[in-house]
Amino acid sequence: MTSKITTQTETQSTSHLQLEQELALLYHNNSNLTPSTIMDFLENMAESQSIGHPRHYPACPAIALNPGRLWKWRKRLIQSLPVVLAQRKSSQNFLVNMPLQKLSQIILMSLQAGKMRNELLRQRPYPSAGGLYGVNVFVLATAVKELEQGIYNVNPDRQCLEQLYLFGSNLECQQWLKTSIVGEPVTKQAPVYIFFCANLNHVKQKYGERAYRFILLEAGHIAQNISLASTSLGISHLPLGGFCEKMIEEKIGDPDMIALYTMALG
Ligand SMILES: Cc1cc2nc3c(=O)[nH]c(=O)nc-3n(C[C@H](O)[C@H](O)[C@H](O)COP(=O)(O)O)c2cc1C
Repeated sequence: MTSKITTQTETQSTSHLQLEQELALLYHNNSNLTPSTIMDFLENMAESQSIGHPRHYPACPAIALNPGRLWKWRKRLIQSLPVVLAQRKSSQNFLVNMPLQKLSQIILMSLQAGKMRNELLRQRPYPSAGGLYGVNVFVLATAVKELEQGIYNVNPDRQCLEQLYLFGSNLECQQWLKTSIVGEPVTKQAPVYIFFCANLNHVKQKYGERAYRFILLEAGHIAQNISLASTSLGISHLPLGGFCEKMIEEKIGDPDMIALYTMALG
């Protein structure tokens, strides 16, 4: 009778896998609501603040977003939503350079509160648990006309990008991408990378351990908006699940922000 000899590498990867499965279930089960915890949860929710907005960085240089005739686009988009939904697909057919106007249109369609008779509404085009808007969207511009290579926070309320970090050189930017995003350089270089990050502690104050579920869901809602908005403008998008969280968090430089999801765009 032969028995399978398990190598050290196999043992390590098996135990890593088991640990991952345990962690996922541990988190899922421990953040479940039960009939006995639901009253506490509702009480805490009622006591907590329920209005928020994505974090702003007013001390950073601001670059105005220029959406051109965005509101015309919105009217046309409403009619063509079924077509846009049917056309959406992941693609790496990226432009060499992304015009700032196209980036502005995608960002503002996806994130900015609506307008009614020229007045900005509070309502945004995506839902957020408790209206806290704990998720921030950051843009890494590798090749955007009118933008220096760097990382920017999207401030949809002020219709601008807040410049958080500038790369010293193209080489620094390329090397950072290669070590931070899995698939680089397999993935064709995109002119823009989107980082979905969140202020977990802010959302935790209201939702406790369920907060982590909620920020992931909110990031998914925003990512879907961005994928549909870019499809409607003929711009490619590729969701990217493999990335080094700490590398992104360190570049953003806000200790409250944790990285959740990324997308290549262009
Ligand atoms: C959470 C998530 C992570 C993903 N990560 C990657 C990735 O790292 N690399 C990649 O090429 N595609 C990635 N994708 C894209 C999927 O491969 C793609 O959505 C799937 O094959 C279906 O194709 P479609 O988007 O064209 O319909 C990811 C998609 C999701 C939702």
